[in-house]
Amino acid sequence: AEAAAEGAPGPVGRDRTVAVVGTGTMGQGIAQVALVAGHPVRLYDSAPGRAEEAVAALTARLDRLVEKGRLDATAREAAVGRLHAARELDELADAALVVEAIVELLPVKQQLFADLEKVVGDDTVLATNTSSLSVTAIAGGLRLPGRFVGLHFFNPAPLLPLVEVVSGFATDRDVATRAYETVKGWGKTPVRCADTPGFIVNRVARPFYAEALRVFEEGAADPATIDAALRECGGFRMGPFELTDLIGQDVNEAVTRSVWDSFHQDPKFTPSLAQRRLVESGRLGRKTGHGWFSYAQDAERPEP
Ligand code: NAI
Repeated sequence: AEAAAEGAPGPVGRDRTVAVVGTGTMGQGIAQVALVAGHPVRLYDSAPGRAEEAVAALTARLDRLVEKGRLDATAREAAVGRLHAARELDELADAALVVEAIVELLPVKQQLFADLEKVVGDDTVLATNTSSLSVTAIAGGLRLPGRFVGLHFFNPAPLLPLVEVVSGFATDRDVATRAYETVKGWGKTPVRCADTPGFIVNRVARPFYAEALRVFEEGAADPATIDAALRECGGFRMGPFELTDLIGQDVNEAVTRSVWDSFHQDPKFTPSLAQRRLVESGRLGRKTGHGWFSYAQDAERPEP
């Protein structure tokens, strides 16, 4: 099930290992998708014990899928058997695809990929789930930058079909195609795009958040009213305030800041002072119990 004998490259074979580095929110979601698709999956996280916790969390999620009748018990057994935590990076040596979902800091990501390149084979596809950094910059120091691609999943990864397949300056066409075919085979809806700040979705969504924040800052209406208006008339499933509470005010602000910086602080992307105050006060949204709105600490989190 490797590349097609001729013509365009095929997906990474289901028998080949997919490694996920960084096992927080996104890493766990991506791992679940690859695992349910049939791959052996290996998880690595630099925080001790975190990969093992992710294995336990993923096993519990698979159990819930079985309870809901969305996965049968035999498939669950097989999936759990294919899932392993790695204690050292070199345990990822046989991965055909590595998806990185670690902290959104360029030097940290560059260092990780430099280390990974010493461990994996030359034909291993290296992918980043970055939402706002330059794919080209992350690949900048690699020996083989052609095998590097952006695979931008959306949160929650098991539920949301869209994946942006981002080609950096040096990304080989065949590598992007292989990445595209792989996530398509996982039941996702990939779209190809070039490496520009925010890619497609995070870029086009900036004014949605920014204008709503400006309307609020100008005193036109409160967050609940603006959200309601956009749900009712705008046709959005969630308004900008409740949506950023779900995403995390810190995460949303960081993306805005990154796009703004990438465009040399173009005023059209200027971050909001009201949102800055929210982040400074630790009101990050659902994850801290408060953001624009208040949430009971034990409130049900949306379940991937
Ligand atoms: P998170 O904070 O939930 O998880 C990050 C994990 O990476 C942590 O477990 C941490 O211990 C680990 N880590 C940090 N540095 C590491 C290193 N050098 N080596 C190995 N593991 C390391 O973060 P989250 O939200 O899952 O985000 C991860 C990436 O995904 C970021 O690049 C983010 O921009 C991107 N992303 C996030 C989305 C979101 O809605 N949260 C959506 C799409 C992309």
